[in-house]
Parts: sequence; structure tokens; C-alpha cells
Amino acid sequence: MPGFERPQGTLSVDGVPLDHVAARFGTPTYVYSGALIRARYSAFSNAFGSHRHQVCYAVKANSNLSVLRLLAELGAGFDIVSGGELARVVRAGGDPARVVFSGVGKTTQEIEQALEAGIGCFNVESEMELDRIEAIARTHGVQAPVSVRVNPDVDAKTHPYISTGLKENKFGVPTGAVMGLYRRIENSDALRSLGIDCHIGSQLTDITPFLEALDRLLELVDALAAEGISVDHLDLGGGLGVRYADETPPDLEAYARGITERIGQRPLTLFFEPGRWIVGDAGALLVRAEYLKENEGRGFLVVDGAMNDLLRPALYSAWHEIELVEARDEAATRALDIVGPVCESADFLGKERLLPARPGDLLAVRSAGAYGFGMSSNYNSRNRAAEVLVDNGEARMVRRRETIDDQLAAELEGIA
Ligand code: LLP
Repeated sequence: MPGFERPQGTLSVDGVPLDHVAARFGTPTYVYSGALIRARYSAFSNAFGSHRHQVCYAVKANSNLSVLRLLAELGAGFDIVSGGELARVVRAGGDPARVVFSGVGKTTQEIEQALEAGIGCFNVESEMELDRIEAIARTHGVQAPVSVRVNPDVDAKTHPYISTGLKENKFGVPTGAVMGLYRRIENSDALRSLGIDCHIGSQLTDITPFLEALDRLLELVDALAAEGISVDHLDLGGGLGVRYADETPPDLEAYARGITERIGQRPLTLFFEPGRWIVGDAGALLVRAEYLKENEGRGFLVVDGAMNDLLRPALYSAWHEIELVEARDEAATRALDIVGPVCESADFLGKERLLPARPGDLLAVRSAGAYGFGMSSNYNSRNRAAEVLVDNGEARMVRRRETIDDQLAAELEGIA
């Protein structure tokens, strides 16, 4: 089985023991399983069988060039939200024609960059944005391919910070305004309506909200067809959840079946933008325990990774499994908060964990492949972690650990 396993007491990734990875590359380090990323991508794509579909991996989940390259080699498309992500996809050998561009704040420069690269489709999030894309396309003498991102007003029943399909959220266009935008697109020589789009949120653990959103989109597709306006694809976004603790994420087959059944005979290519489902379980953050301390009866294990490395626990109270890399044949005597060195009480990776851990131990923070490194920062002037990809039985550093010189370089340019 690809991924993380504990064959003989030591947690390993695709057969490579994690203590070897830490000895070679130090800590904190993100480590990814190439085999699991491949397996997840293929499973997702295969779930739709012969139904025409395109999987556009959401780059924001993990934008490491080597991860993108691996997915590009499998024929993945990409969902981007910035010019920076587009540059990464191009550098990694991704096909711009298979790129969709989402996000509420596309700048003039980003729209120009995307048109020049020849991206597949803009997922348009407002009428003002449509005006801007139209004007830029006209200046460039090209036709911009667009989809309208619909805000279907369905409750994704996930953490409020990662819920995006409710009418109070900033994302997408209210259903009532969608038809008007397509009529405008039809009448423009600089725009071409290619699809219809939505993304209702992330880490969904139930398929019902996906299907409700799909129903709203299909009503619009049918209403458009009745006016003679056709779209080639329907993009249902990302959002399929994974298991961090005891969640029961939807079964991939049920998700695919529910969707294809509803599409029926409509000649629509299905687009998806999964991020977390592809890379989440394929990564872990390796950290080393530095100190054990006790404050008024509460035990703290201070490790060398922190909220700047993995923000999810601090930002969403997210739960990540934390394991000792070397199993210890000893029961934990007390619960420990696993904390980092950053000067914030929100700087924790896990709370009240029953672990028989000691200073010097190596720990793995699991399911950190998505929204881990990508959300990391230099807070407290900490160097960002190294990233290691294990592929074909070999561990390779795919991003070196930052140095203080890396951090200072851009600032020193400002010093006369
Ligand atoms: N498409 C769009 C337009 C998105 O905004 C997102 C995620 C995705 C696709 C991919 O969603 P996924 O399949 O990964 O759920 N930082 C948060 C997650 C934020 C997700 C933002 N948008 C976290 O750590 O949980």
C-alpha cells in the first residue's frame, strides 16, 4: 500500500523509514508520498469511468513544483487562483490549456498573464470581473473562455472559514444574476461561454451539499439551453473531505455515482478541482521534541515545528494525528500539548495527546500534505521547513530548508 505505514515499529513512507528522512534532511520537514499522490489522482479520475471529465488539481493545496510535475505527468489539469500559481504550473510542465482560473480578485496583470499563457477557462466571480476580462481580451484581440462561478447558496456543513457556497460568502455570483451574465457573454465578441462552475467549500464529509449545488447548476444549464445558450463543461469544484480523526468522508464511488446519475444524458464534460483529497493524506510534518515542561499540572512537549509551519490547528482548531516515529513499548502516563516555539498561545500542533514522548523523539504530524507547507510563513523569523518527496523508493529534497539569508535577501535590497 502506498503512503505511511509502520512495518517494524518505525513509521515509514513508501518503504523509507522516517528516522532516515530526518537524519538526512533535519527537522522540521514535510515529507510526501509520491505513490499515494499518484494513486489518489488515478482513483479520482477513474471513479468517473467513461464519463468525459477533467481533474483540475487545486494548486493551493500543495504547490511544490515536484508535486505539480508528478501530477502534470499524469495528465492533470490545474485549478489556480493567482498568477504565481500559473507560473508554477507552467514551470512544472503543466498544460495551460487544462488550467482553470478561480478567485474573486483577479488583477489586470493576472488576466493578461493567463490570456497570454492560453489558459483553458476563467471561473468568473462577478460582473465587474467579467467586464475587466472582456476589455483585456478585446485589447489583445482574443476571445476569453469563461465560466460563471455560481454561488448556489447551499450549506457545505464544514468549518465556517472554509465554507464558500453560502450567499453571505464573498464567492461566486448569486443564482438570480447568472442568466444575465451568460446573455452578456453570448453578445460579446471578446468572450466565449465555455462552462458553468461552483465550489461550495472544503473538507466536506457528506455528499448531499455537492448534489444540492449540482441540482442548482443543472437548473441553470437547462434554462440556458432553453435560450439557445450551451456550455461544454460543468465544474463542481473541489471539497471532498479526508479523515483527520473520526470523520467519515464520502465514499468516492458514491460521490461519482451521485453526480453522473444527475447529469444524465446532458452532453457535459465534468470538471473537478480536488486538492485535499489528492495530497492531504500523502504528507506528514516531521518534528523533533526539544523539551518537556510542566505548568501548573499541564504537560507540554515543545517541538521544533510550529504554527508558522502548520497553521491549521491554530487557525481552524484542526485536529491532526500525531505519532511517535519510533513506537515505544510504554503507555503514556499523561496527556501532553504538542507545542512549538512561537510566542503565541495558539501555537500548538495538538492538544491533550496521550503520547509516551521524550525530548529527542521524532514525531510525525499526519495528513499534513494539503494546506501545510503552502500556508506556512516566516513568523518569528523562522526559516520555512524543507520538503522531501519519496518516489520510486527514494527520498529526494524537493525544497531546501530556508536560511536566514533567504529571509533577509529581499529586505537587504531596500537598504541603500
Ligand atoms: N477550488 C476552489 C475554487 C477552491 O477555493 C478550493 C479550496 C479548491 C478548489 C480545493 O478544495 P479542496 O478539494 O482542497 O477541499 N486552508 C484550508 C482549506 C481552504 C480551501 C480553500 N479553497 C484548510 O487548511 O483546511
